[in-house]
Amino acid sequence: MDKITLLQTKRIILGVTGSIAAYKAVDLASKLTQTGALVDVIMTEAAQRFVTALAFQSVTGRPVYTNLWHADHSGGLPTHIAHVGLGEGADLMLIAPATAQTLAKLAGGFADNLLTVTALAARCPVAVAPAMDGGMYLHMATQANLQLLQERGVTLIEPDEGRFASGLVGRGRLPETPALLGHIRRMLGRSGPLAGCGVVVTAGGTSEAIDPVRFITNRSSGKQGYALAQAALDAGAAVTLISAAHNLPTPVGAALIPVESAREMLDAVLDHSKNADVLVMAAAVADFRPETVAEQKIKKNADDDSGISLQLARNPDILIAVKALRQSTGYPRLAVGFAAESENLLANARSKLERKGLDLLVANDISAQDAGFAVDTNRVTILDAAGGQQELPLASKAQVSEAIIERVSALLGTA
Ligand code: CTP
Repeated sequence: MDKITLLQTKRIILGVTGSIAAYKAVDLASKLTQTGALVDVIMTEAAQRFVTALAFQSVTGRPVYTNLWHADHSGGLPTHIAHVGLGEGADLMLIAPATAQTLAKLAGGFADNLLTVTALAARCPVAVAPAMDGGMYLHMATQANLQLLQERGVTLIEPDEGRFASGLVGRGRLPETPALLGHIRRMLGRSGPLAGCGVVVTAGGTSEAIDPVRFITNRSSGKQGYALAQAALDAGAAVTLISAAHNLPTPVGAALIPVESAREMLDAVLDHSKNADVLVMAAAVADFRPETVAEQKIKKNADDDSGISLQLARNPDILIAVKALRQSTGYPRLAVGFAAESENLLANARSKLERKGLDLLVANDISAQDAGFAVDTNRVTILDAAGGQQELPLASKAQVSEAIIERVSALLGTA
């Protein structure tokens, strides 16, 4: 698990209560620690029946808090104010899994264990991730408690649907670690430099139909676009992700608009850019499409070996259409493009920036093995409209995305 800039040195209180899903909280604590966060775990007595404090201590490398009264459980803080000390310095408190019992206590303002006391004392944002049997989750008592907690500003992380330990099926499963991490990032990013900004990101390679079963596409994986959407979310933006890649998990908080072809992507981009502050075109849009799409599957002729020819038509250039939109409406306020080049990188990139009227252009050399399509790293140069160029070292697509979003924030004057 890579470090996540947003989580570096953030203090997170992870409250764990007595559900079988408590074992998943060990993984969450581990991943959070790996991303760079400082994780203080508070366990209820019931939680300790499912997993041990030692498990959490082992993955976080920090003391685990289990008891309101015992001095040796206070992790160096004076016992009688452990809850205040924990709550005070925290950036976020997440209770995962949160049982029906703990939710009821929180709704009632009860303070009978270190976890509930800390929740009352905490001044940071609080989130709950309920985990329980489907019937218990849907019970009016639980729903009323959740309603009340949300009215008081607590964030509810909805449970997943699926199979329970009891064998029953319903809604009440604790979401998996990546989803929980996504919710945490969303909450911590809220006051970032792009708070209040709308960012549209496109991702993936469009596919252009030949017949009902065949299409032409390209090698784009969508990874860079998805990483950009996540970086924009981390910076607090409202993100719309227009995606032609269908195998990647949607970053928590992004509104996903799935598309297939360049023309579908064009319609979606124009529609969503109308009021957006920023458009980032990371998608690899097919420049050509089959001129006609066969209604039925194209069959080969059994009697001869001859091939067929595909006549290709030009696809619209989405960024050129966006340039016209910007000239008439002023939106999107900023446009960022990518240039995938296999030769004359900077010269070709500069002319693309000018032709498409972009504020920033991210140039990448797709002939390099460690950069470009499908791999997790990228080596890019960011060109700007003022003639500047910033060469970034080989970095993960997440780090490249953060650098791009930083430049975007600087241009918007929000950094
Ligand atoms: N792009 C677009 N519409 C297209 C093709 C590309 O909006 N029909 C966008 C891409 O999303 C990218 C930028 O334009 O942000 C440059 O894409 P690239 O494929 O490098 O360049 P092309 O304009 O297609 O030019 P060429 O393929 O001739 O290099």
